[in-house]
Amino acid sequence: MDIILIAAITADGYIARHSNETVEWTLDLHLFKEQTMGWPVIMGSNTKETLNTDLSGRKEIVIHRDDIPKQILSNIKTEKCFVIGGGKTNTLFSPYLTHMYLTFHPLVFAKGVKLFSNLKDEMELTLLNVVPVINRKNLYQFQYKINK
Ligand SMILES: NC(=O)c1ccc[n+]([C@@H]2O[C@H](COP(=O)([O-])OP(=O)(O)OC[C@H]3O[C@@H](n4cnc5c(N)ncnc54)[C@H](OP(=O)(O)O)[C@@H]3O)[C@@H](O)[C@H]2O)c1
Repeated sequence: MDIILIAAITADGYIARHSNETVEWTLDLHLFKEQTMGWPVIMGSNTKETLNTDLSGRKEIVIHRDDIPKQILSNIKTEKCFVIGGGKTNTLFSPYLTHMYLTFHPLVFAKGVKLFSNLKDEMELTLLNVVPVINRKNLYQFQYKINK
């Protein structure tokens, strides 16, 4: 199964100003919707609380601190699923990720929630595609395969 982390990210590697921020600065929500539609989406409880609505058309799997990623993933029978944040959840699932889709936004936050909170291990990536975000000049999604 492809396990794809998808995120909107600042130029300095942040996904939010703080853990309770409802992210309103992203410019690629239409691409996020198109790519995740129909697939299970895994998110942390903080992220769930920041969402204004359910993610319709997608099975939402909300993670809590005692959940075991391997067990969660073994219950998913689709050909792919998405890990949609936040930073703590991205780290929890990091050993299992196969791909990352990152849209770099022209912002610097200096502090906040990193793409991965307290990540311990390095990763090596291969850039597979760079996808222009429709109707957003000079905004691109970088699609990486995770080698290890
Ligand atoms: N830019 C983007 O693309 C993007 C995408 C998604 C989210 N975000 C933003 O990311 C932010 C949330 O990220 P986050 O990292 O704070 O939260 P998160 O990953 O969404 O959720 C927190 C997770 O960590 C667990 N947790 C909380 N405290 C813990 C502790 N002391 N020890 C172990 N586990 C603990 C929670 O479990 P419990 O339920 O048991 O507490 C939950 O599973 C929000 O502002 C959201 O808007 C941005």
